[in-house]
Amino acid sequence: MSNLSRLLKESWTLVEEHQDKLASYFYARMFLNNPQLRDLFPVQMDVQRSRLLGAIVTAVQTVDDPEHFEEYLQSLGRDHRKFHVQPEHYEVVGSALMEALRTFAGDQWSIEFDQAWSDAYAVIADKMIAGAEADLSNPPYWHAEVLYHERRSRDIAVMTVKPLQPLEYRAGQYVSVETKYQPRLWRVYSAANAPRKDGSLDFHVRAVGAGWVSSALVRRVRPGDMIRLGAPMGQMTLDRRSTRDIVCVAGGTGLAPIKALIEEMTRANRTRWVHVFFGAKDRDDLYDLACLNRLAARYPWLSVVAATSDDPDFPGEHGNVSDIVARYGPWRDHDFFVSGSPTMVKSTLRTLAEMQVPAIRIKYDAFGDV
Ligand SMILES: Cc1cc2nc3c(=O)[nH]c(=O)nc-3n(C[C@H](O)[C@H](O)[C@H](O)COP(=O)(O)OP(=O)(O)OC[C@H]3O[C@@H](n4cnc5c(N)ncnc54)[C@H](O)[C@@H]3O)c2cc1C
Ligand code: HEM
Repeated sequence: MSNLSRLLKESWTLVEEHQDKLASYFYARMFLNNPQLRDLFPVQMDVQRSRLLGAIVTAVQTVDDPEHFEEYLQSLGRDHRKFHVQPEHYEVVGSALMEALRTFAGDQWSIEFDQAWSDAYAVIADKMIAGAEADLSNPPYWHAEVLYHERRSRDIAVMTVKPLQPLEYRAGQYVSVETKYQPRLWRVYSAANAPRKDGSLDFHVRAVGAGWVSSALVRRVRPGDMIRLGAPMGQMTLDRRSTRDIVCVAGGTGLAPIKALIEEMTRANRTRWVHVFFGAKDRDDLYDLACLNRLAARYPWLSVVAATSDDPDFPGEHGNVSDIVARYGPWRDHDFFVSGSPTMVKSTLRTLAEMQVPAIRIKYDAFGDV
């Protein structure tokens, strides 16, 4: 661990206990110093309170790994164009962060700690600003029309949207989405198709608990509605130079990016075997299995195994999808794509580690913090 990293981690322990108060203070400072900034944030700040602050703290604490974060920060900066963030805002946010830290750390805060946080923040802000500036040929966000919307189960909808301007992305990537029902509230969803000539994108969305955006997308959005899309992000894309066979592990709507990858392979693949494991609680949640089975019937290199964890009469595998993957192994020489809830991704990564699959061969997207 570098000295900078040690200082950041050590100093964070001084404020960690007061995170809620730190967040309130941070936002109050920021909006007081620059009241116009309030309009960039969602109305429901109570739910959202620590989204930005939490993200900055995580980014600052991982500043030691610049190569890994370079690309992420650039695309995050590009993505921030959708919030109408301008380069000068970074200073306002940075000062509010520093003021909040100083206020809550108490007597033990030192000049060294102060310097470490401002240095780390500056590095990150520079990369994000550079990412945004490199993207000026694209719009800050894309208006898109909902062409098709189908409820596939109580909580799951499949929809197709068409951006009014071309939106270039790669199979396996995700974009953020905002609806008119929850203005300024953006959440990311994976495109469920490889890029098409007509530019349309499919999304598979599950409405979670009291989820703001997912509920609107599943229960309120209708064909003809306009939504907004942010810039594509994510690294879970196909390495076309690899000749390894592939294992895809999808939980619920985690199938979306996997389906996009399969679709990409239907255009070029002749040589790689692709094994898809699709798991869900019950058969209703295997909302796209019929389509997967049709693809498997058409492409000899594709096989599909479906599993339910809570549906004893389901005519397929039973149990958690990560256990099923282990049962079908070994998978020593495969590339892996894993996508789904944080719990499902975590347990699959654990299984793969136990099976000694090298981490470098695994790409994954978790629908939350792993
Ligand atoms: C890289 C990535 C790709 C994603 N792709 C998809 C996708 O293709 N399809 C899709 O349906 N979702 C996807 N998600 C999840 C999506 O971004 C949202 O997090 C999710 O829809 C919840 O947003 P919300 O506004 O409805 O809920 P929020 O208002 O953010 O949350 C409301 C409540 O629900 C809880 N909650 C949030 N997420 C979950 C969850 N997954 N399970 C249980 N409780 C939860 C929260 O803790 C909170 O208490 C993806 C996430 C990531 C990070
Ligand atoms: C080091 C600098 C920054 C980092 C690492 C950072 C990171 C992030 C991340 C990861 C998110 C969550 C994205 C999402 O859920 O879609 C976010 C949200 C957001 N950021 Fe930033 N950001 C930074 C600077 C800024 C600045 C300068 C502004 C301008 C005011 C800003 C405005 C926002 C807004 C408006 C949101 C949405 C908040 C919400 O939904 O609650 N960010 N940021």
